[in-house]
Amino acid sequence: MPARLIDGRALAAVMQAELAQRVAEQVSTGGPRPGLAAIQVGSRQDSTRYVRGKIRACEKVGIASFHHPLPESTSQAELLRLIEKLNGDASVHGILVQLPLPPHIDESVVIRAVAPHKDVDGFHPENLGLLAAGTPRFVACTPLGVQQLLLRHDVPIAGAKVVIVGRSTIVGKPLALLLMRKGEGGDATVTVAHSRSRDLPGITRGADILVAALGQPGYITADMVKPGAVVIDVGTTPTADGRLVGDVDFDRVREVAGAISPVPGGVGPMTITMLLYNTHRASQIQSVG
Ligand code: GUN
Repeated sequence: MPARLIDGRALAAVMQAELAQRVAEQVSTGGPRPGLAAIQVGSRQDSTRYVRGKIRACEKVGIASFHHPLPESTSQAELLRLIEKLNGDASVHGILVQLPLPPHIDESVVIRAVAPHKDVDGFHPENLGLLAAGTPRFVACTPLGVQQLLLRHDVPIAGAKVVIVGRSTIVGKPLALLLMRKGEGGDATVTVAHSRSRDLPGITRGADILVAALGQPGYITADMVKPGAVVIDVGTTPTADGRLVGDVDFDRVREVAGAISPVPGGVGPMTITMLLYNTHRASQIQSVG
């Protein structure tokens, strides 16, 4: 029997409708309208598409968006000046700098320049550190989206064996921290594996929940999946003809897995949704002072 489909598009629509209501309530009771500034340097096709999707989603839920498209030739100093200005702008509660940046710009310097209380991407070391310390403020959007996909599809996380393939600072590492926390949505036994792990199929076959986040199309094959396992595909590699492909061999793995998220329409819409949630939370945190 083919696996149950974990439909991120449908869940994102439900969660965005919930959020739109909360934003409307906040604004109608005199609270601030949440505002998100989105900076894109250069014109990579995939980045343009992501940023456009994020801005469109802001409009849908009533979040104000401030788009800052900058030319590829923008210097690091110019970018840092813009971030500094947005850090001090009270109508901007969240700042996202779309990655990757052109090679002449040091991403880690830019990530550290965003005020931690406006870092709705959760990439600043202060926010990563808070998550590691067990007192998260902003958690990266993709890990949050994966956790919500599992929770809202009633996938048991507590006590489950989770294998995450991929150790990036944006996905693998924060997701591991999130799923091993104590309490709801956590309490999992987490293994972080990667392309250099010895006997990767042996490790992935032990997973009740397998998360593929290494950015290599079709890397996770059916023989790497335990029958009945829940498979979440974080991969989004753009193809030459403009499609997105995941890290999982979807057609074959769906014959083995118990549940599986597709690409597109799985994690991607949830990442955007969690960005909106973080921006709303940022507006609440900042209005309290
Ligand atoms: N590039 C790929 N994923 C992301 C993300 O979640 N946020 C930002 N800012 N850039 C990305």
